[in-house]
Amino acid sequence: MSDKLIVFDTTLRDGEQSPGASMTHEEKVRIAKQLEKLRVDIIEAGFAAASNGDFDSVRAIALAIKDSTVCSLARANDRDIARAGDALRGANSARIHTFIATSALHMEKKLRMTPDQVFEQARLAVRFARQYTDNIEFSPEDGSRSDPDFLCRVLEAVIAEGATTINVADTVGYAVPEQYGEFIRKLRERIPNSDKAVWSVHCHDDLGLAVANSLAGIKIGGARQVECTINALGERAGNCSLEEVVMAVKTRKDYFGLDVGIDTTQIMPASRLVSGITGFVVQPNKAIVGANAFAHASGIHQDGVLKARQTYEIMRAEDVGWAANKIVLGKLSGRNAFKQRLQELGIELDSEQAVNEAFARFKDLADRKSEIFDEDIHALVSGEQGEAGEGAYRFVALAQRSETGERPHARVVFSENGKEVVAEAQGNGPVDATVNAIESHVRSSAELLLFSVNAITTGTESQGEVTMRLSRSGRIVNGVGADPDIVVAAAKAYLSALNKLQSPVEKVHAQGI
Ligand code: KIV
Ligand code: ZN
Repeated sequence: MSDKLIVFDTTLRDGEQSPGASMTHEEKVRIAKQLEKLRVDIIEAGFAAASNGDFDSVRAIALAIKDSTVCSLARANDRDIARAGDALRGANSARIHTFIATSALHMEKKLRMTPDQVFEQARLAVRFARQYTDNIEFSPEDGSRSDPDFLCRVLEAVIAEGATTINVADTVGYAVPEQYGEFIRKLRERIPNSDKAVWSVHCHDDLGLAVANSLAGIKIGGARQVECTINALGERAGNCSLEEVVMAVKTRKDYFGLDVGIDTTQIMPASRLVSGITGFVVQPNKAIVGANAFAHASGIHQDGVLKARQTYEIMRAEDVGWAANKIVLGKLSGRNAFKQRLQELGIELDSEQAVNEAFARFKDLADRKSEIFDEDIHALVSGEQGEAGEGAYRFVALAQRSETGERPHARVVFSENGKEVVAEAQGNGPVDATVNAIESHVRSSAELLLFSVNAITTGTESQGEVTMRLSRSGRIVNGVGADPDIVVAAAKAYLSALNKLQSPVEKVHAQGI
Protein backbone atom coordinates (compact mmCIF):
# COMPACT_ATOMS: atom_id res chain seq x y z
CA MET A 1 0.00 0.00 0.00
CA SER A 2 1.25 3.51 -0.83
CA ASP A 3 2.66 5.62 1.98
CA LYS A 4 1.54 8.87 0.41
CA LEU A 5 -1.70 10.53 1.52
CA ILE A 6 -3.47 12.22 -1.39
CA VAL A 7 -5.06 15.54 -0.41
CA PHE A 8 -8.31 16.30 -2.25
CA ASP A 9 -9.60 19.79 -1.55
CA THR A 10 -13.31 20.45 -2.00
CA THR A 11 -13.52 24.05 -0.71
CA LEU A 12 -14.81 25.20 -4.09
CA ARG A 13 -17.49 22.51 -4.32
CA ASP A 14 -18.64 21.13 -0.93
CA GLY A 15 -17.40 24.33 0.77
CA GLU A 16 -19.44 26.46 -1.57
CA GLN A 17 -22.57 24.42 -0.76
CA SER A 18 -22.53 26.05 2.66
CA PRO A 19 -25.35 28.65 2.79
CA GLY A 20 -23.89 32.11 2.22
CA ALA A 21 -20.50 30.85 1.00
CA SER A 22 -21.10 31.36 -2.70
CA MET A 23 -18.10 32.78 -4.56
CA THR A 24 -17.74 34.67 -7.80
CA HIS A 25 -15.96 33.21 -10.81
CA GLU A 26 -12.88 35.35 -10.21
CA GLU A 27 -12.79 34.46 -6.50
CA LYS A 28 -12.91 30.75 -7.33
CA VAL A 29 -9.98 31.03 -9.73
CA ARG A 30 -8.03 32.98 -7.10
CA ILE A 31 -8.67 30.31 -4.47
CA ALA A 32 -7.77 27.54 -6.94
CA LYS A 33 -4.41 29.21 -7.59
CA GLN A 34 -3.75 29.39 -3.86
CA LEU A 35 -4.66 25.69 -3.54
CA GLU A 36 -2.16 24.94 -6.28
CA LYS A 37 0.49 26.89 -4.33
CA LEU A 38 -0.48 24.85 -1.29
CA ARG A 39 0.24 21.83 -3.52
CA VAL A 40 -3.00 19.99 -2.97
CA ASP A 41 -3.10 16.93 -5.19
CA ILE A 42 -6.67 17.39 -6.41
CA ILE A 43 -8.84 20.49 -6.56
CA GLU A 44 -12.56 19.80 -6.79
CA ALA A 45 -13.36 22.96 -8.75
CA GLY A 46 -17.14 22.68 -8.64
CA PHE A 47 -20.21 20.93 -9.96
CA ALA A 48 -20.14 21.80 -13.66
CA ALA A 49 -23.78 20.85 -14.31
CA ALA A 50 -25.12 23.18 -11.59
CA SER A 51 -25.35 26.21 -13.90
CA ASN A 52 -23.59 27.86 -16.83
CA GLY A 53 -21.64 29.95 -14.31
CA ASP A 54 -20.42 26.85 -12.49
CA PHE A 55 -19.45 25.24 -15.80
CA ASP A 56 -17.43 28.33 -16.74
CA SER A 57 -15.66 28.37 -13.36
CA VAL A 58 -14.66 24.70 -13.60
CA ARG A 59 -13.46 25.34 -17.13
CA ALA A 60 -11.41 28.42 -16.16
CA ILE A 61 -9.80 26.53 -13.27
CA ALA A 62 -9.08 23.51 -15.47
CA LEU A 63 -7.19 25.78 -17.86
CA ALA A 64 -5.43 27.87 -15.21
CA ILE A 65 -4.11 25.07 -12.99
CA LYS A 66 -1.05 23.13 -14.07
CA ASP A 67 0.28 21.26 -11.04
CA SER A 68 -2.85 19.86 -9.36
CA THR A 69 -5.47 17.56 -10.87
CA VAL A 70 -8.72 19.44 -11.45
CA CYS A 71 -11.96 17.61 -10.72
CA SER A 72 -15.65 18.23 -11.30
CA LEU A 73 -18.50 16.61 -9.42
CA ALA A 74 -21.28 14.95 -11.46
CA ARG A 75 -24.37 13.06 -10.39
CA ALA A 76 -24.50 9.56 -11.82
CA ASN A 77 -26.20 10.51 -15.07
CA ASP A 78 -24.97 11.09 -18.63
CA ARG A 79 -25.82 14.80 -18.78
CA ASP A 80 -23.93 15.71 -15.60
CA ILE A 81 -20.96 13.58 -16.60
CA ALA A 82 -20.83 15.10 -20.09
CA ARG A 83 -20.92 18.61 -18.58
CA ALA A 84 -18.08 17.68 -16.22
CA GLY A 85 -16.06 16.11 -19.04
CA ASP A 86 -16.57 19.14 -21.31
CA ALA A 87 -15.67 21.63 -18.58
CA LEU A 88 -12.46 19.74 -17.84
CA ARG A 89 -11.34 19.53 -21.46
CA GLY A 90 -7.85 21.03 -21.82
CA ALA A 91 -6.82 20.42 -18.20
CA ASN A 92 -3.30 19.11 -17.64
CA SER A 93 -4.80 16.43 -15.41
CA ALA A 94 -8.54 15.91 -14.96
CA ARG A 95 -10.81 13.80 -12.78
CA ILE A 96 -14.56 13.18 -12.91
CA HIS A 97 -16.15 12.54 -9.53
CA THR A 98 -19.51 10.84 -9.85
CA PHE A 99 -21.80 9.79 -7.03
CA ILE A 100 -25.14 8.25 -6.11
CA ALA A 101 -26.71 7.54 -2.74
CA THR A 102 -26.52 3.94 -1.54
CA SER A 103 -28.20 3.95 1.90
CA ALA A 104 -31.67 2.43 2.12
CA LEU A 105 -33.03 5.72 3.45
CA HIS A 106 -31.64 7.85 0.62
CA MET A 107 -32.50 5.34 -2.11
CA GLU A 108 -36.11 5.05 -0.97
CA LYS A 109 -36.92 8.57 0.19
CA LYS A 110 -34.65 10.78 -1.91
CA LEU A 111 -33.98 8.90 -5.13
CA ARG A 112 -37.15 6.77 -5.09
CA MET A 113 -35.13 4.01 -6.71
CA THR A 114 -34.68 0.35 -5.92
CA PRO A 115 -31.22 -0.95 -4.94
CA ASP A 116 -30.98 -2.72 -8.30
CA GLN A 117 -31.66 0.51 -10.17
CA VAL A 118 -29.01 2.32 -8.12
CA PHE A 119 -26.53 -0.49 -8.77
CA GLU A 120 -27.13 -0.24 -12.51
CA GLN A 121 -26.96 3.55 -12.59
CA ALA A 122 -23.67 3.61 -10.67
CA ARG A 123 -22.11 1.10 -13.06
CA LEU A 124 -23.32 2.88 -16.20
CA ALA A 125 -22.19 6.26 -14.86
CA VAL A 126 -18.62 5.08 -14.39
CA ARG A 127 -18.67 3.38 -17.79
CA PHE A 128 -19.89 6.63 -19.41
CA ALA A 129 -17.31 8.75 -17.56
CA ARG A 130 -14.51 6.65 -19.04
CA GLN A 131 -15.21 8.25 -22.41
CA TYR A 132 -13.73 11.43 -20.94
CA THR A 133 -10.94 10.31 -18.64
CA ASP A 134 -9.40 7.29 -16.94
CA ASN A 135 -9.27 9.21 -13.66
CA ILE A 136 -12.68 8.50 -12.15
CA GLU A 137 -13.79 8.79 -8.57
CA PHE A 138 -16.99 7.15 -7.39
CA SER A 139 -18.70 8.10 -4.12
CA PRO A 140 -21.49 6.14 -2.49
CA GLU A 141 -23.37 9.06 -0.92
CA ASP A 142 -24.42 8.33 2.67
CA GLY A 143 -21.98 5.43 2.31
CA SER A 144 -21.30 5.16 6.04
CA ARG A 145 -25.01 4.40 6.67
CA SER A 146 -25.31 1.96 3.77
CA ASP A 147 -25.80 -1.77 4.03
CA PRO A 148 -22.29 -3.31 3.74
CA ASP A 149 -23.44 -6.21 1.51
CA PHE A 150 -25.08 -3.85 -0.96
CA LEU A 151 -22.13 -1.47 -0.83
CA CYS A 152 -19.70 -4.31 -1.59
CA ARG A 153 -21.78 -5.24 -4.65
CA VAL A 154 -21.88 -1.65 -5.96
CA LEU A 155 -18.23 -0.86 -5.26
CA GLU A 156 -16.94 -4.07 -6.82
CA ALA A 157 -18.95 -3.28 -9.95
CA VAL A 158 -17.80 0.34 -10.29
CA ILE A 159 -14.17 -0.66 -9.81
CA ALA A 160 -14.62 -3.28 -12.52
CA GLU A 161 -15.99 -0.50 -14.78
CA GLY A 162 -12.86 1.60 -14.18
CA ALA A 163 -13.38 3.73 -11.06
CA THR A 164 -9.89 4.46 -9.74
CA THR A 165 -10.88 6.12 -6.44
CA ILE A 166 -13.60 4.99 -4.05
CA ASN A 167 -14.72 7.68 -1.64
CA VAL A 168 -16.76 6.45 1.32
CA ALA A 169 -18.87 9.48 2.18
CA ASP A 170 -20.05 10.13 5.71
CA THR A 171 -22.56 12.56 4.24
CA VAL A 172 -24.44 13.46 7.41
CA GLY A 173 -21.55 13.25 9.88
CA TYR A 174 -23.04 10.22 11.66
CA ALA A 175 -19.93 8.06 11.85
CA VAL A 176 -17.70 7.60 14.87
CA PRO A 177 -13.97 7.03 14.38
CA GLU A 178 -13.32 3.38 15.16
CA GLN A 179 -16.52 2.18 13.51
CA TYR A 180 -15.88 4.23 10.34
CA GLY A 181 -12.27 3.02 10.12
CA GLU A 182 -13.38 -0.61 10.57
CA PHE A 183 -16.17 -0.14 8.03
CA ILE A 184 -13.67 0.87 5.35
CA ARG A 185 -11.20 -1.83 6.36
CA LYS A 186 -13.86 -4.51 5.99
CA LEU A 187 -15.06 -3.17 2.64
CA ARG A 188 -11.50 -3.31 1.34
CA GLU A 189 -11.06 -6.79 2.72
CA ARG A 190 -14.30 -8.17 1.25
CA ILE A 191 -14.22 -6.59 -2.23
CA PRO A 192 -12.07 -8.81 -4.47
CA ASN A 193 -10.80 -5.96 -6.72
CA SER A 194 -10.45 -3.37 -3.93
CA ASP A 195 -6.71 -3.08 -4.58
CA LYS A 196 -7.43 -1.59 -8.02
CA ALA A 197 -8.67 1.64 -6.42
CA VAL A 198 -7.42 4.25 -4.00
CA TRP A 199 -9.74 4.45 -1.00
CA SER A 200 -10.83 7.84 0.19
CA VAL A 201 -12.53 9.43 3.19
CA HIS A 202 -15.08 12.25 3.03
CA CYS A 203 -16.42 13.26 6.44
CA HIS A 204 -18.82 15.94 7.62
CA ASP A 205 -18.55 17.57 11.02
CA ASP A 206 -22.09 17.33 12.42
CA LEU A 207 -20.82 15.62 15.58
CA GLY A 208 -17.49 17.45 15.53
CA LEU A 209 -15.80 14.23 14.42
CA ALA A 210 -14.87 14.93 10.80
CA VAL A 211 -11.11 15.09 11.38
CA ALA A 212 -11.11 12.17 13.85
CA ASN A 213 -13.20 10.05 11.47
CA SER A 214 -10.95 10.90 8.53
CA LEU A 215 -7.87 9.95 10.52
CA ALA A 216 -9.47 6.66 11.56
CA GLY A 217 -10.40 5.95 7.95
CA ILE A 218 -6.74 6.48 7.09
CA LYS A 219 -5.19 4.60 9.99
CA ILE A 220 -7.65 1.74 10.49
CA GLY A 221 -9.33 1.65 7.09
CA GLY A 222 -6.22 2.11 4.96
CA ALA A 223 -7.63 5.08 3.03
CA ARG A 224 -4.98 6.96 1.08
CA GLN A 225 -7.00 9.99 0.02
CA VAL A 226 -8.59 12.53 2.33
CA GLU A 227 -11.27 14.96 1.19
CA CYS A 228 -11.20 18.23 3.07
CA THR A 229 -11.72 21.98 2.90
CA ILE A 230 -9.86 25.08 4.01
CA ASN A 231 -11.15 26.27 7.42
CA ALA A 232 -13.46 23.21 7.45
CA LEU A 233 -15.94 25.10 5.26
CA GLY A 234 -18.84 22.96 4.06
CA GLU A 235 -22.49 21.98 4.29
CA ARG A 236 -24.02 22.48 7.78
CA ALA A 237 -21.23 22.02 10.35
CA GLY A 238 -18.63 21.75 7.59
CA ASN A 239 -16.18 19.21 6.24
CA CYS A 240 -12.93 17.78 7.52
CA SER A 241 -10.48 20.66 7.95
CA LEU A 242 -7.53 20.47 5.54
CA GLU A 243 -5.18 22.27 7.89
CA GLU A 244 -6.02 20.00 10.83
CA VAL A 245 -5.86 16.67 9.04
CA VAL A 246 -2.66 17.58 7.19
CA MET A 247 -0.90 18.85 10.32
CA ALA A 248 -2.04 15.80 12.30
CA VAL A 249 -0.56 13.42 9.74
CA LYS A 250 2.64 15.48 9.43
CA THR A 251 3.15 16.14 13.14
CA ARG A 252 2.40 12.52 14.05
CA LYS A 253 4.34 10.89 11.23
CA ASP A 254 5.62 8.51 13.90
CA TYR A 255 2.04 7.17 14.21
CA PHE A 256 0.58 7.50 10.71
CA GLY A 257 3.78 6.80 8.75
CA LEU A 258 2.51 8.76 5.75
CA ASP A 259 3.87 11.54 3.54
CA VAL A 260 1.79 14.50 2.40
CA GLY A 261 2.83 16.75 -0.46
CA ILE A 262 1.34 19.93 1.02
CA ASP A 263 3.47 23.08 1.34
CA THR A 264 2.26 23.84 4.85
CA THR A 265 3.65 27.40 4.79
CA GLN A 266 0.79 28.22 2.41
CA ILE A 267 -1.87 27.16 4.93
CA MET A 268 -2.35 30.56 6.58
CA PRO A 269 -2.53 32.50 3.30
CA ALA A 270 -5.12 29.97 2.08
CA SER A 271 -7.11 30.25 5.30
CA ARG A 272 -7.15 34.06 5.17
CA LEU A 273 -8.07 34.10 1.53
CA VAL A 274 -11.02 31.74 1.98
CA SER A 275 -12.36 33.49 5.08
CA GLY A 276 -11.98 36.92 3.45
CA ILE A 277 -13.82 35.87 0.32
CA THR A 278 -16.61 33.86 1.92
CA GLY A 279 -17.11 35.94 5.06
CA PHE A 280 -16.84 32.78 7.19
CA VAL A 281 -14.63 34.08 9.96
CA VAL A 282 -12.20 31.69 11.68
CA GLN A 283 -12.81 31.35 15.40
CA PRO A 284 -9.79 32.47 17.51
CA ASN A 285 -9.32 29.09 19.18
CA LYS A 286 -9.52 27.09 15.92
CA ALA A 287 -6.60 24.67 15.63
CA ILE A 288 -3.75 25.68 13.30
CA VAL A 289 -5.33 28.80 11.76
CA GLY A 290 -7.12 30.47 14.71
CA ALA A 291 -5.57 33.68 16.07
CA ASN A 292 -4.79 31.97 19.39
CA ALA A 293 -3.49 28.70 17.94
CA PHE A 294 0.12 29.64 18.61
CA ALA A 295 -0.39 32.32 21.28
CA HIS A 296 1.15 31.11 24.51
CA ALA A 297 -0.69 33.48 26.78
CA SER A 298 -0.27 32.04 30.24
CA GLY A 299 2.89 32.99 32.09
CA ILE A 300 3.80 29.37 32.84
CA HIS A 301 3.53 28.38 29.20
CA GLN A 302 5.50 31.40 28.05
CA ASP A 303 8.27 30.60 30.46
CA GLY A 304 8.37 27.00 29.18
CA VAL A 305 8.41 28.09 25.54
CA LEU A 306 11.23 30.56 26.18
CA LYS A 307 13.37 27.87 27.82
CA ALA A 308 12.69 25.21 25.19
CA ARG A 309 10.07 25.62 22.46
CA GLN A 310 9.12 21.93 22.47
CA THR A 311 7.79 22.08 26.04
CA TYR A 312 4.46 23.48 24.86
CA GLU A 313 4.79 23.70 21.06
CA ILE A 314 4.21 20.63 18.92
CA MET A 315 4.31 22.62 15.67
CA ARG A 316 6.03 25.85 14.68
CA ALA A 317 3.84 28.80 13.73
CA GLU A 318 6.10 29.63 10.79
CA ASP A 319 5.69 26.11 9.38
CA VAL A 320 1.99 26.75 8.78
CA GLY A 321 2.56 30.20 7.35
CA TRP A 322 2.01 32.53 10.31
CA ALA A 323 5.29 34.29 9.50
CA ALA A 324 4.01 35.01 6.00
CA ASN A 325 2.13 37.94 7.52
CA LYS A 326 4.68 40.51 6.37
CA ILE A 327 4.57 44.06 5.16
CA VAL A 328 4.59 43.95 1.38
CA LEU A 329 3.86 47.45 0.18
CA GLY A 330 3.63 51.00 1.51
CA LYS A 331 2.75 54.55 0.66
CA LEU A 332 5.69 54.94 -1.72
CA SER A 333 5.08 51.75 -3.69
CA GLY A 334 4.39 52.41 -7.33
CA ARG A 335 1.96 50.92 -9.81
CA ASN A 336 4.50 48.36 -11.05
CA ALA A 337 5.22 47.03 -7.56
CA PHE A 338 1.47 46.83 -6.93
CA LYS A 339 0.85 45.00 -10.21
CA GLN A 340 3.66 42.56 -9.52
CA ARG A 341 2.26 41.79 -6.07
CA LEU A 342 -1.15 41.13 -7.61
CA GLN A 343 0.49 38.65 -9.95
CA GLU A 344 2.38 36.94 -7.13
CA LEU A 345 -0.90 36.57 -5.24
CA GLY A 346 -2.56 35.03 -8.29
CA ILE A 347 -4.97 37.96 -8.64
CA GLU A 348 -5.88 38.59 -12.24
CA LEU A 349 -7.86 41.73 -12.96
CA ASP A 350 -9.54 41.64 -16.31
CA SER A 351 -8.44 45.02 -17.72
CA GLU A 352 -5.88 47.79 -17.29
CA GLN A 353 -8.74 49.97 -16.08
CA ALA A 354 -9.48 47.48 -13.30
CA VAL A 355 -5.80 47.55 -12.30
CA ASN A 356 -5.85 51.37 -12.30
CA GLU A 357 -8.97 51.43 -10.12
CA ALA A 358 -7.49 48.89 -7.71
CA PHE A 359 -4.26 50.90 -7.59
CA ALA A 360 -6.21 54.08 -6.78
CA ARG A 361 -7.90 52.24 -3.89
CA PHE A 362 -4.52 50.94 -2.76
CA LYS A 363 -3.09 54.49 -2.73
CA ASP A 364 -6.09 55.70 -0.77
CA LEU A 365 -5.59 52.90 1.76
CA ALA A 366 -1.82 53.50 1.97
CA ASP A 367 -2.51 57.15 2.83
CA ARG A 368 -4.51 56.02 5.82
CA LYS A 369 -2.52 52.93 6.80
CA SER A 370 1.27 52.92 6.65
CA GLU A 371 1.85 49.17 6.29
CA ILE A 372 0.02 47.20 3.64
CA PHE A 373 -0.08 43.40 3.99
CA ASP A 374 -1.10 40.70 1.52
CA GLU A 375 -4.39 40.38 3.40
CA ASP A 376 -5.07 44.07 2.77
CA ILE A 377 -4.53 43.58 -0.94
CA HIS A 378 -6.87 40.59 -1.06
CA ALA A 379 -9.52 42.57 0.82
CA LEU A 380 -9.06 45.56 -1.45
CA VAL A 381 -9.55 43.48 -4.58
CA SER A 382 -12.42 41.42 -3.14
CA GLY A 383 -14.15 44.67 -2.24
CA GLU A 384 -13.56 46.00 -5.74
CA GLN A 385 -15.19 43.02 -7.35
CA GLY A 386 -17.72 42.06 -4.73
CA GLU A 387 -19.23 45.29 -3.64
CA ALA A 388 -18.53 47.48 -6.61
CA GLY A 389 -18.49 44.89 -9.40
CA GLU A 390 -21.59 43.74 -11.17
CA GLY A 391 -23.88 44.70 -8.29
CA ALA A 392 -26.49 47.41 -8.41
CA TYR A 393 -25.23 49.13 -5.25
CA ARG A 394 -21.88 50.77 -4.73
CA PHE A 395 -20.59 52.55 -1.65
CA VAL A 396 -19.56 56.19 -2.16
CA ALA A 397 -19.22 58.00 1.19
CA LEU A 398 -20.41 58.07 4.76
CA ALA A 399 -20.75 60.66 7.52
CA GLN A 400 -21.59 59.46 10.97
CA ARG A 401 -22.11 61.16 14.31
CA SER A 402 -22.30 59.56 17.71
CA GLU A 403 -21.84 60.92 21.19
CA THR A 404 -22.56 59.49 24.61
CA GLY A 405 -26.20 60.22 25.49
CA GLU A 406 -27.12 61.06 21.86
CA ARG A 407 -28.80 58.76 19.35
CA PRO A 408 -26.25 57.98 16.58
CA HIS A 409 -26.94 59.36 13.12
CA ALA A 410 -25.59 58.25 9.72
CA ARG A 411 -25.67 59.81 6.29
CA VAL A 412 -24.73 57.29 3.59
CA VAL A 413 -24.06 58.09 -0.05
CA PHE A 414 -24.20 55.12 -2.41
CA SER A 415 -25.01 54.52 -6.03
CA GLU A 416 -27.86 52.40 -7.32
CA ASN A 417 -27.41 51.30 -10.93
CA GLY A 418 -25.00 54.21 -11.37
CA LYS A 419 -27.32 56.87 -9.86
CA GLU A 420 -26.26 58.50 -6.60
CA VAL A 421 -28.53 58.14 -3.57
CA VAL A 422 -28.21 60.00 -0.26
CA ALA A 423 -29.92 58.39 2.72
CA GLU A 424 -29.98 59.36 6.40
CA ALA A 425 -31.21 57.65 9.55
CA GLN A 426 -30.70 57.22 13.25
CA GLY A 427 -30.05 53.95 15.07
CA ASN A 428 -29.05 52.31 18.32
CA GLY A 429 -25.42 52.51 17.31
CA PRO A 430 -23.41 53.79 14.33
CA VAL A 431 -23.75 50.51 12.39
CA ASP A 432 -27.49 50.30 13.08
CA ALA A 433 -27.90 53.91 11.90
CA THR A 434 -25.90 53.11 8.73
CA VAL A 435 -27.97 50.02 7.90
CA ASN A 436 -31.20 51.94 8.67
CA ALA A 437 -30.10 54.71 6.30
CA ILE A 438 -29.45 52.23 3.46
CA GLU A 439 -32.70 50.39 4.17
CA SER A 440 -34.71 53.65 4.21
CA HIS A 441 -34.07 53.72 0.48
CA VAL A 442 -33.62 50.07 -0.54
CA ARG A 443 -36.42 48.44 1.55
CA SER A 444 -34.99 44.96 0.91
CA SER A 445 -37.11 43.19 3.57
CA ALA A 446 -34.05 40.99 4.20
CA GLU A 447 -33.31 39.67 7.67
CA LEU A 448 -29.83 40.29 9.10
CA LEU A 449 -28.64 36.93 10.47
CA LEU A 450 -25.08 37.81 11.34
CA PHE A 451 -22.92 40.87 11.78
CA SER A 452 -19.27 40.32 12.65
CA VAL A 453 -16.16 42.48 12.70
CA ASN A 454 -12.68 41.08 12.43
CA ALA A 455 -9.30 42.81 12.26
CA ILE A 456 -7.57 41.74 9.03
CA THR A 457 -4.08 42.15 10.46
CA THR A 458 -2.73 43.11 13.87
CA GLY A 459 -2.92 46.50 15.62
CA THR A 460 -5.65 49.12 15.83
CA GLU A 461 -4.45 50.51 12.52
CA SER A 462 -5.71 47.32 10.85
CA GLN A 463 -8.55 47.32 8.38
CA GLY A 464 -11.75 46.00 9.90
CA GLU A 465 -13.36 43.26 7.88
CA VAL A 466 -17.12 43.14 8.36
CA THR A 467 -19.36 40.24 7.41
CA MET A 468 -23.11 40.76 7.07
CA ARG A 469 -25.25 37.67 6.47
CA LEU A 470 -28.68 38.36 5.02
CA SER A 471 -31.59 36.05 4.43
CA ARG A 472 -34.60 36.58 2.20
CA SER A 473 -37.14 34.01 0.97
CA GLY A 474 -34.95 31.11 2.06
CA ARG A 475 -31.84 32.44 0.33
CA ILE A 476 -28.79 33.24 2.47
CA VAL A 477 -25.88 35.42 1.33
CA ASN A 478 -22.76 36.85 2.95
CA GLY A 479 -21.47 40.32 2.17
CA VAL A 480 -17.93 41.28 3.13
CA GLY A 481 -16.50 44.81 3.33
CA ALA A 482 -13.14 46.05 4.52
CA ASP A 483 -11.94 49.48 5.56
CA PRO A 484 -9.88 51.02 8.38
CA ASP A 485 -13.18 52.65 9.44
CA ILE A 486 -15.37 49.78 10.59
CA VAL A 487 -18.63 51.69 10.05
CA VAL A 488 -17.62 52.21 6.41
CA ALA A 489 -16.69 48.50 6.26
CA ALA A 490 -20.18 47.68 7.59
CA ALA A 491 -21.84 49.83 4.91
CA LYS A 492 -19.77 48.13 2.20
CA ALA A 493 -20.57 44.67 3.58
CA TYR A 494 -24.29 45.44 3.71
CA LEU A 495 -24.35 46.75 0.12
CA SER A 496 -22.32 43.74 -1.03
CA ALA A 497 -24.84 41.37 0.57
CA LEU A 498 -27.72 43.26 -1.08
CA ASN A 499 -25.99 42.88 -4.44
CA LYS A 500 -25.67 39.14 -3.92
CA LEU A 501 -29.34 38.87 -2.92
CA GLN A 502 -30.26 40.45 -6.23
CA SER A 503 -28.13 38.20 -8.41
CA PRO A 504 -30.08 35.36 -10.06
CA VAL A 505 -29.77 31.76 -8.81
CA GLU A 506 -30.57 29.06 -11.26
CA LYS A 507 -28.17 26.60 -9.70
CA VAL A 508 -28.90 22.91 -9.22
CA HIS A 509 -27.85 21.60 -5.81
CA ALA A 510 -25.81 18.44 -6.37
CA GLN A 511 -27.21 16.64 -3.34
CA GLY A 512 -30.65 18.25 -3.22
CA ILE A 513 -33.87 16.26 -3.06
O1 KIV B 1 -21.14 14.50 1.52
C1 KIV B 1 -21.28 13.88 0.46
O2 KIV B 1 -21.87 12.81 0.39
C2 KIV B 1 -20.73 14.49 -0.75
C3 KIV B 1 -20.68 13.61 -1.95
C4 KIV B 1 -21.08 14.33 -3.18
C5 KIV B 1 -19.33 12.99 -2.04
O3 KIV B 1 -20.29 15.61 -0.74
ZN1 ZN C 1 -19.90 16.26 1.35
